[in-house]
Amino acid sequence: MSTSSSSRPPNPASPLQAVPPAGNPLLASGLPADCFAACPVRPSIVFQQLFANSLDGVVITDKDAVIAEVNPSYERLTGFTRTELLGQKAGIVKSGLTDPEVFRQMWEALQGAGHWTGEVINRRKNGEIWYSFLSIVALRGPGGEVIGYVGMARDVTAMHAASEALSAQLREIRATQKVTIETLARIAEFADPLLEGHLERIQAYSRILAEDLAQRGGWTEMGALVEMVEQSCLLHDLGKAAIPSSILLKPGRLSPEEFALMQKHTVIGGELLGDADDELRAMLQVDESFLSMARDIALYHHERWDGKGYPHGLKGPAIPRAARLVALADVYDALTSRRVYKPPYSHEDARAIVIGAAGSQFDPEVVQAFLRQEQSFINVLKANKLPETG
Ligand SMILES: [Fe+2]
Ligand SMILES: [Fe+2]
Repeated sequence: MSTSSSSRPPNPASPLQAVPPAGNPLLASGLPADCFAACPVRPSIVFQQLFANSLDGVVITDKDAVIAEVNPSYERLTGFTRTELLGQKAGIVKSGLTDPEVFRQMWEALQGAGHWTGEVINRRKNGEIWYSFLSIVALRGPGGEVIGYVGMARDVTAMHAASEALSAQLREIRATQKVTIETLARIAEFADPLLEGHLERIQAYSRILAEDLAQRGGWTEMGALVEMVEQSCLLHDLGKAAIPSSILLKPGRLSPEEFALMQKHTVIGGELLGDADDELRAMLQVDESFLSMARDIALYHHERWDGKGYPHGLKGPAIPRAARLVALADVYDALTSRRVYKPPYSHEDARAIVIGAAGSQFDPEVVQAFLRQEQSFINVLKANKLPETG
């Protein structure tokens, strides 16, 4: 298939032969005057050997992209012999699978800067598809006009397949995480059926707050964590699965003893998720796993900004950020939902309570985000059917 360079017939169509030998074209390209001075062989020999022996395919065309010369590696990559390629349009190796926009940008770059690098999908003579990492340089004549092109192609099919496999694995991991969290959240729903609508709404409210705060100084890291907040908040009441239904479903207010037991849902959820998080982090040797935030939210979503919350009485910035915003989302939803001991509050009444709790129950910055996004909260409230009992 491959033709040795020594047996190659001369190619009169080569655009290189059209360049007049006058002057030093290397100087014209801005290279230093002593460039190649220390080379053991003449530059032309360097390029000949590079052309003949490079493992990258090299193709030289005239200004109309008609192939004027190819090296043995280009023959090997494309499956075509030199004789079959010479005189053909460079497009002979196209697969039709490359986005046309790539060729448009390639053409624009070659006419402008005079060089382009990118990836195209080619087809070998036998029909096989291969990914080519291609670098093309425009060849210019003495007057600066484009008289041809030289392209260097590297077969990156194997690399491409590996990165595709990696992306597929990443998608699988993300999907597994999402389904795992949703399944765990359903366990809590079994114990407390009211959680179902509550979880959907708290997810929407938490996302609204996280997206808003990610735009603010000091909260910018939240930008990369919006999805994680949205998923992790589903597990905030996971610990309720371990609270007796006589307490969870009790029609009426809880006694102090019952309330103390109910408060334990934070510690139970935090321990469950914390154990899983510890194991994952140890196995993966990472500082944080996808359950780290879920553990923080479960454990700290009833902490208060003034330190009077539970279970640990954490104060102010000591409370993890995600737990601070889920705390507001949780209370807003409880206020606007019907309970056996109260009707659902209107948005306006809930809003007044949230504002009144800024700096005591809630982080004032989270309350500010709530006020900025008030309309979005109202939209979620209107769009979701409120629980009729509870
Ligand atoms: Fe809770
Ligand atoms: Fe809740």
